[in-house]
Amino acid sequence: MAQRRRKKHTTPEMFQPEPVRGTITIERLAHGGYGVGYLNGLAVFVPRTAPGDIVEVEMTETKRRYAFGTLLALQQASPDRVPAPCPLYDRCGGCHVQHLPYTYQLAHKTTQVREALARIGKLPDVPVASMQESPQPFGYRNKVLYHYDSARGALGLVARGEGQILDMPHCLINDPRADAIMARMRTLLETYPLLQRVLHQVQVQVGQRTGESLVTVFVHTAPPATLLQQLWDGVRDRATGLFVHVKARETPELFSGTTSHVAGATVIHEQVGPWRFRIEPQAFFQVNTVQMEHLYDLVSEAAALQGDEIVFDLYSGGGTIALTLAPSCRTVHAVEWSRQATLLATQQAAELGVSNCQFRTGKVERIVQRYLAEGIRADVAVLDPPRAGCLPDALQALALMRVPRLVYVSCSPPTLARDLRVLHDLGYRTTHVQPVDMFSHTYHIECVATLVRG
Ligand SMILES: C[S@@+](CC[C@H](N)C(=O)[O-])C[C@H]1O[C@@H](n2cnc3c(N)ncnc32)[C@H](O)[C@@H]1O
Repeated sequence: MAQRRRKKHTTPEMFQPEPVRGTITIERLAHGGYGVGYLNGLAVFVPRTAPGDIVEVEMTETKRRYAFGTLLALQQASPDRVPAPCPLYDRCGGCHVQHLPYTYQLAHKTTQVREALARIGKLPDVPVASMQESPQPFGYRNKVLYHYDSARGALGLVARGEGQILDMPHCLINDPRADAIMARMRTLLETYPLLQRVLHQVQVQVGQRTGESLVTVFVHTAPPATLLQQLWDGVRDRATGLFVHVKARETPELFSGTTSHVAGATVIHEQVGPWRFRIEPQAFFQVNTVQMEHLYDLVSEAAALQGDEIVFDLYSGGGTIALTLAPSCRTVHAVEWSRQATLLATQQAAELGVSNCQFRTGKVERIVQRYLAEGIRADVAVLDPPRAGCLPDALQALALMRVPRLVYVSCSPPTLARDLRVLHDLGYRTTHVQPVDMFSHTYHIECVATLVRG
């Protein structure tokens, strides 16, 4: 018979363990930009540290085999450290490796890719080229989401750890035109108290080559038309178009309610190589224009199209990869789950005069299974999934179709390694991985992997 558990009379304070502190030497850098040292036999992951640093740390979260720690004091700085150019670097959550020289960041990111492939994918022999550096490691972000804290009157980016909003007039990795629009928003907040009550976030998208910009204001409740007009009057000399999004509820998704166009243009454009692409508030667009150009060149090289191939562009967003490959092949079948993005892709194709792309809305894992059942086959499949990577169903369907060549574009080395392992077990071989620095000064890493069957 089950025994009744005795109710324990405890107070939360009784369980508060003493914080564990100690001095450690940082030995290496890990995924996420963390420095790693050892304390009491545990690997301790400490942000904003560099190999060679001797640091006093406090463990903040302890697991069975490792712990996270915070930096209490830098007792001896690594010779590899540089002063972070941003005065708010220690507090802001946006950048992770500004305390390392740019060339060091590149080398570290290349190592991260190799280590992920060896450790997670058990693929130590896959050739990984050195990270392709960015010609513009600052001022590159063409899309910025600013947060507003009405209680503190702060408008800016989210602080590290505690999630506070940092009131920052300028961010070194943002396109300065986005920050200039934010400066205008600050003035508008001072002028219109009603805006202070309703404002939640502001998204700014900049066409870096066209100079156009789109502002989307996220609010808790629908503002009166007069306030929207005042907002437009306040930004119209800097922005090309203005949208308002009334949030439906508190969710992690940015777009949870209704978006309405307020004034100006409904889309802006960006020039990427010979392509003039449309940008809308909601559809995915690469955040680094200069490196997007390089990334797409690498995809095109990896696809090695001869002119008559059938190509899949899976996780196609606004169809930008499909459209760049279309002139070099017979047909592109593009698949994307966001209806709005598929619509945008169809409009882009019409605007660019591209007629050999078919854009389909749906989940890749379902649609490729359907293609398999319908007998639709591809000579080359490009996969560009979100950070979570691909579901095994999608990869299995491609293997069953015997697609001879795959190009896997990834923004997460751990999931890339996991999926390459699955593909290797399904009969593919990775011939080349090229990391590209799309997100300088942050820990994020983009890669293009080429795989062949057999
Ligand atoms: C990294 S973006 C790539 C977009 C595009 N290839 C580009 O270069 O702009 C990933 C895209 O996959 C879409 N997506 C995420 N999960 C999906 C799924 N299971 N099936 C189809 N699309 C998905 C997202 O909406 C997003 O547009």
